[in-house]
Amino acid sequence: MAYKILVLKGDGIGPEVVGEALQVLKTVARQSALELEFKEAMVGGASLDAYGTPLRDDVLKAALDSDAILLGAVGGPKWDNPAADKRPEQALLALRKNLNLYANLRPVKAIKDLLAASPLRAEIINGVDLVVVRELTSGIYFGTPSERRTGSAGREAVDTLYYNEAEISRVLRFGFELARQRRKRLTSVDKANILASSRLWREIAGEIAAQYKDVAFENVLVDSMAMHLLRRPRDFDVIVTENMFGDILTDEASMLAGSMGLLPSASLGDEINGAGFPIGLYEPIHGSAPDIAGQDKANPLAAILSAAMLLEHSLGMRAEADTIREAVEAVVREGYRTPDLAAPGAKMVGCKAMGRLVRERLEGGEP
Ligand code: IPM
Ligand code: MG
Repeated sequence: MAYKILVLKGDGIGPEVVGEALQVLKTVARQSALELEFKEAMVGGASLDAYGTPLRDDVLKAALDSDAILLGAVGGPKWDNPAADKRPEQALLALRKNLNLYANLRPVKAIKDLLAASPLRAEIINGVDLVVVRELTSGIYFGTPSERRTGSAGREAVDTLYYNEAEISRVLRFGFELARQRRKRLTSVDKANILASSRLWREIAGEIAAQYKDVAFENVLVDSMAMHLLRRPRDFDVIVTENMFGDILTDEASMLAGSMGLLPSASLGDEINGAGFPIGLYEPIHGSAPDIAGQDKANPLAAILSAAMLLEHSLGMRAEADTIREAVEAVVREGYRTPDLAAPGAKMVGCKAMGRLVRERLEGGEP
């Protein structure tokens, strides 16, 4: 049976990095007699330019109909006009919402050979191995009203941070289940001293924690969490938090690994695909980096590691996913670096060469 993978390269460096990830997937498919059927479509700014909408209905339909989706990045200065009512990012939000991908997994692991690439001291980040589970389909990203208007005080704007019980408990349960498969520690992050939505979150987190007595549980306020991530990142295993806190904390956490160019993500829900696993959307956490787009300078490793997560979570191929991770680590160990990880003495390579090196390692060749 062939599995259907929808490929949404998107904007900026999206096409370059996804191009490498795709080739890695094809290599693995060839090696494991796995049949993958790729379908490509435009999304974000590219789709806005070509069709006047960031996400066409038939692309959304294709997404709902696929076993997994691989996405590059969306957005760029070209589409940044604040007055525009159509923006590339809407495509991403619509995909997440319509596919009900409420659990966004963002693993952060310090790679030994890249400790020097982080702005933080090696002794602080050595051994970091955490995963942020970010709630992805509710909170201030989706609450209504969300609008700009004119009131008695002149120009005003409002956004709404809404959460209900079901939305909070399903993502926390997801986190506890994940913690059980890892080091059995879970940190729930909120702002319960200020926000009503966070107080509900904390209440429910406590109730669910009582059902997972084997998992060490703590509540941490988001502002202290921002600090702890830099001071003692090794202490954390699974961190569960609401949508916007997760957005902010994962950009911060990416610095523990050295570069945004290294961090993959998986967005999962309860919908099961033809392989018997959750349908997922896989994307690097980095953006479209328009400043380096089209110059063969982007780091494809986050996209390649996202493809590894796709194999693991949506196709149940953990061993094959690990092979990709090992290939990535091997290439890095050999000293190859894209410009985002530049260091004295490194063997500098571009996006294409980095992708090729990973594939060569997968095929058993020396880089
Ligand atoms: C992310 C990004 C997106 C988000 C943007 C591009 C809409 O920052 O995936 O972290 O805010 O969720
Ligand atoms: Mg973000």
